[in-house]
Amino acid sequence: METLTSLYPFFLDWLDLVVRWIHIIVGIAWIGTSFYFNWLDSRLDREIDSNDVDGELWSVHSGGFYHINKLKGPPKVFPKELHWFKWEAYTTWISGFALLIIVYYLNAESIMIDKTVSDINPFTAIIMSLSFLAGSWLIYDFLCKSSLIEHKILFSIIGLILATIISYALTKIYGSKAAYIHVGACLGTIMAANVFHVIIPSQKNMVNAALANKQPDLKKGLSAKTRSIHNNYLTLPVLFIMISAHFPFTYGHKYNWLILAIISVIGASVRHYFNLRNKKKYNVWILPSAAAGMICLMLYVSIPKINNNLEEKTFEKVDFNEVTNIIKYRCGVCHAINPTYEGFEEPPLGIIFDTTQDIIKNIKDIKDQVIDSDIMPPGNMTGITESERNILKVWIEQGASINN
Ligand code: HEC
Repeated sequence: METLTSLYPFFLDWLDLVVRWIHIIVGIAWIGTSFYFNWLDSRLDREIDSNDVDGELWSVHSGGFYHINKLKGPPKVFPKELHWFKWEAYTTWISGFALLIIVYYLNAESIMIDKTVSDINPFTAIIMSLSFLAGSWLIYDFLCKSSLIEHKILFSIIGLILATIISYALTKIYGSKAAYIHVGACLGTIMAANVFHVIIPSQKNMVNAALANKQPDLKKGLSAKTRSIHNNYLTLPVLFIMISAHFPFTYGHKYNWLILAIISVIGASVRHYFNLRNKKKYNVWILPSAAAGMICLMLYVSIPKINNNLEEKTFEKVDFNEVTNIIKYRCGVCHAINPTYEGFEEPPLGIIFDTTQDIIKNIKDIKDQVIDSDIMPPGNMTGITESERNILKVWIEQGASINN
């Protein structure tokens, strides 16, 4: 029995691995088909002389030629099997939600909550998370059903403002990494719900109408088209958020919500360029503007860090003992083979600082998490002081020497 209990944390790690793996695979399948059909639709040769065929396309791939026809209406004879492409979306959402539970809800205390941001308990954190997921879909769906949907630009601006307000609110409730992931989860929920609630029902309506020899509901078809365009644009910000955990200078920044909004606009504008290009409109200026946007953002985030460096050049050589003491008391209580901090059975993410080698090996991550941002210790649970952060910083700038 005891072995089983001790196995539990390892089981969770493996479960995380398997579900994350599945999530990426089905996510690629979903986004891949979505990109493919978008591309296909825009590249069809429509100058075809036919009463039934709207456009055709030839392609060659993996050892075969493919000839695809898009029909003007439903097929005269329904094929035995019609492929729908819906489980890619559903399984992406289901596995994503499972990950949210495994990684975040089960570790709410240490990973979701940052007591310096908001002193909530795990139960409240989880209830709020669920409310944000449901709430963002309800708000978005309401806007789509309102007359605002007729005004594309206004809709996008209001959508962006609301999404930014939601991400701002999330950064005031959770730790920064959890806040970012929640924005992604809200957008991902909207995308999957679009498929489940609007796109697939509209396709069902189309198929049923064809089988009954009736006209399909045109309004349903139109809203499905709009939702699928929204999904197309949302893909880029969502994918950025999914990789953002590797970039602490984004989620760990003081104005992380603003950085997310700017990166999302840049991502969506690049998507817009490709969508226009597919329609043979070549607004090439969008690409250099997006690149310039990324460069400006990089300068905005990075320059303050360089200026700080210049001011502290007068420091004396930092004693390595001082560094090990700071790391031992402020970090080592969690990041050790046998953590002593309550609630930590094993070192988070397997990161340990038990020996000099452990510290040296992790210098870049220490800099990212403790100096260039104040993500660690989470919620400053061990009370690291600004001057201690500074000592670590100067030690690294002086070449991270371990000889006193
Ligand atoms: C109270 C426990 C605790 C303390 C104290 C703590 N950490 Fe962490 N650390 C965590 C947890 C939990 C994670 C995993 C966070 C996640 O996955 O979002 C983590 C993750 C990290 C990571 C990996 C981040 C990543 O996303 O790759 C680094 C590096 C790190 N900590 C360094 C430090 C340093 C340096 C200190 C001391 C200044 C410190 N930690 C103090 C709990 C702690």
